[in-house]
Amino acid sequence: MEISVSYLSSKYDIKKTIDLIEMTNADYIHVDLMDGGFVPAKNFNLLEVVTLLKSVKKKLDIHLMVFDPIIYIDDLAKLKPQYITFHIEATKDIVKTIEKIKEKNINVGLAIKPDTNIYELIPYLSFVDLVLIMSVNPGWGGQNFMPEAISHFKELLKIREDNHLSFKIEMDGGINKETIQLVPKLDIAVSGSFVCTSDNYQARIDELKQNH
Ligand code: DX5
Ligand code: ZN
Repeated sequence: MEISVSYLSSKYDIKKTIDLIEMTNADYIHVDLMDGGFVPAKNFNLLEVVTLLKSVKKKLDIHLMVFDPIIYIDDLAKLKPQYITFHIEATKDIVKTIEKIKEKNINVGLAIKPDTNIYELIPYLSFVDLVLIMSVNPGWGGQNFMPEAISHFKELLKIREDNHLSFKIEMDGGINKETIQLVPKLDIAVSGSFVCTSDNYQARIDELKQNH
């Protein structure tokens, strides 16, 4: 299992939090971008995000919680992220958005909220590299893991296996050393507050790996 650390909830400022994540063996930095429309909070300005992240050494795993994700792709592509993931609920232009991300040679992820039917993903699963299952309602760090995510995960594993597909499965929200045990076979775990509100980021990452 790979680990993607979100810097959204931390006791330090964003820069210091990113520096601390860089010192661990986490696989990715998870970049949560919220537009104040798809989710209530707004937390970015594109120019600032690109400036902040352009010198980061870890691979970037960008999670767009925005309407019309397609309009952000040209700017975010400058960061050469490993993944850009957008929400199936956020746009009518799902295929166009997938194509736009692929044109930039970036892996594409599709995210799904806890109360969206997993079968809505089916038409797109052979075109994406990743599915991000939300285990909280998107918008805030530090929420409790929603058990609905476990059935989403099991259904998706079965669909992947039955259809010989190869997308990765990532889960985001309320992941800690207990909830990680509920999702064996998960490919990528996102962790925000469990890692970033502690004094020892590496120890928390180790706990996630040991309990999986
Ligand atoms: C929630 C974000 C998450 C969040 C995870 O809307 O997408 O990535 O930062 O934080 P924790 O791990 O604290 O739930
Ligand atoms: Zn996220």
